[in-house]
Amino acid sequence: MCYECGSPTRRSFSRFLAAGAGLAVLSACTPEAPKAAPSSSAASSPSPSPAATATAGTTPDAATVGQPPEVPSPTPSPPATLARRFSLDDPASPWVIVNKHRPLKPADYVPADLVRPAVAISAAGEAALLNSTAAAAAGAMFAAAAGDGVALVLASGYRSYSTQVTTYNGYVAARGQADADTASARPGHSEHQTGWAFDIGDGGGACSFEPCFAEQPAATWAKANGHRFGFVVRYPWMLHPITGYYYEPWHLRYIGAEAATDMLNRGIGTLEEYFGLEAAPGYL
Ligand code: DAL
Ligand code: ZN
Repeated sequence: MCYECGSPTRRSFSRFLAAGAGLAVLSACTPEAPKAAPSSSAASSPSPSPAATATAGTTPDAATVGQPPEVPSPTPSPPATLARRFSLDDPASPWVIVNKHRPLKPADYVPADLVRPAVAISAAGEAALLNSTAAAAAGAMFAAAAGDGVALVLASGYRSYSTQVTTYNGYVAARGQADADTASARPGHSEHQTGWAFDIGDGGGACSFEPCFAEQPAATWAKANGHRFGFVVRYPWMLHPITGYYYEPWHLRYIGAEAATDMLNRGIGTLEEYFGLEAAPGYL
């Protein structure tokens, strides 16, 4: 992995990152396009308590860990004890899957229960908000990290559709659409809009939104312990052929402690694989 990305790139993107976009330098430092090999990650906590329906409604397909996206391979799926507990389609569900093949419905969805979590926050305005379930879990996780001597800061949380328009367009203007699509979701396709996801920093700015953040205590702690509070690292290293995005060690997604722990124990790195969904390397 490259840790020597050009500073101009960092400067160019600082304003987008402030809006919570998620990376910049990363795509300049990461392998080229979606086609690569495996890795894995995942992140235990209070159980999900979302307003959700009880349907999984998905079609197992070609998730391809370790293979080019066009080569199908068997996909794991949640065990019977976990299957079909929450909707994969309802944005209010902790298991909603949002990716390049699965836009939010409705596209302008706004969580009904946005709150400001009781954690250290470096974000302003709506970006300081999460849905109430994710906020409670984040509070417990940040407190546990502090107890272990690790500082976590909420760098970017909820992002409205209109904010995502600004963020994404900023990336496109700065580096072109193809490159932008490896780091920033198009409007209506971002997990940040659900209130279930947020980006972390360490409070000191070390490697903020940069690849080297993966090696900072905040990231290593979150990767090793997030599952206890219901979080997974949503965009793991080298799994962009499945997720559609380069490694984002700062982007955590709440799915509940039971599922997050199950993913970790089974060595499943992506939600697409875990829920038996097709890989989503690009927009349809
Ligand atoms: N950076 C992530 C993919 C987002 O824009 O939601
Ligand atoms: Zn993010």
